[in-house]
Amino acid sequence: MKRVLIVGSGGIGRRHLKGYSLTGRVQLAIVEPDAGRRDEAKALFGITETYTDISEADLNSFDLAVICAPANFHVALMRRCAEAGLNFLVEKPLSVTMDEVDETLALVHSKNLVARVGYVRRVADEVVTLRQQILDGKIGTLRLAYLNSSQEFPKYRPDFQRTYYARPEMGGGAILDAASHLFDMLIWLMGKPTDVSCLYDRLVLEGTNTEDTCLVSIRFQSGAMANVTINQFQKPNIARFEFIGTKGNLMLEHSTLKFADDDSGKWQDERDFMQGLVPTEAHQARFRMQADAMLDAIEGKPCWLATLDDARDNLRVALAAKQSWLEKRIVRL
Ligand SMILES: NC(=O)c1ccc[n+]([C@@H]2O[C@H](COP(=O)([O-])OP(=O)(O)OC[C@H]3O[C@@H](n4cnc5c(N)ncnc54)[C@H](O)[C@@H]3O)[C@@H](O)[C@H]2O)c1
Repeated sequence: MKRVLIVGSGGIGRRHLKGYSLTGRVQLAIVEPDAGRRDEAKALFGITETYTDISEADLNSFDLAVICAPANFHVALMRRCAEAGLNFLVEKPLSVTMDEVDETLALVHSKNLVARVGYVRRVADEVVTLRQQILDGKIGTLRLAYLNSSQEFPKYRPDFQRTYYARPEMGGGAILDAASHLFDMLIWLMGKPTDVSCLYDRLVLEGTNTEDTCLVSIRFQSGAMANVTINQFQKPNIARFEFIGTKGNLMLEHSTLKFADDDSGKWQDERDFMQGLVPTEAHQARFRMQADAMLDAIEGKPCWLATLDDARDNLRVALAAKQSWLEKRIVRL
């Protein structure tokens, strides 16, 4: 059994607690400063080993930490793990500014740790298949992508005004919170980003200091381009990602992947990867798959979860998007 320390047992911390429990490969402990949340996690997952602060835990006694505190705490927590030689998965985004990011990543690299970032879509079957089809040349050379992920956020996260989401300095808002998942998909599929432009604003949602809408354009080193569109207030839940190559298009709509290479208006090879599954259960299952991937990685097996360097590029895109709108210019990374 591996010893795993979950750092922060809020919304996502609980998903990880369940995901790691379901692997059957771990003994869990938590760090959680909030007494109510700590007690809830103890009761829900039968955890007996708990701490209120990471400094109380003997980090040398663990095999892995899973950092689930809000993003403004990530750098300090990663550094604690690195100093103790402890492998970790850190939730997205990597941080909320570039302050001390490079120094911390250099420290982690110098210790040869397994360290990954929780962009959980990398374990979703439909995304893995999409990537493989692009790599296999199904659409020729990928040149363009249009990604639209828009839905009524308060319906899915009713407490949004009381969480980090409401506060830009804690990693809230459409860009750092939601678009960052899409930036990761693009970085995984299209490579290194070089230029970013953006419009963003809070158009509808009340009770936050963060943007609920963003229109981000990204250029990549390969010359390919992408557009990421998000609003967090519309009623229909849209997740439509189109990848356009020199020989055809691949479209991922929620969990349905399809292909077209003519103008008949008909899609081919259509497959819903969640057919027969309950969406909430399928989403939770990804956290078990991600947990297994991390446990495999610390046993020396290959791992395709996002690296810290991928997440650094991702954070630079997010910060450049904000800078672009504030300074009214295209930002070169
Ligand atoms: N991968 C995903 O799909 C996904 C989804 C939601 C959130 N997240 C990310 O997870 C992180 C947390 O989000 P959340 O929704 O769980 O927030 P949350 O506010 O529900 O929970 C955060 C928890 O961390 C605790 N905490 C604060 N400081 C801490 C510290 N120094 N040490 C330990 N615990 C601490 C808080 O008390 C709280 O219980 C954010 O970075 C967010 O972007 C990822």
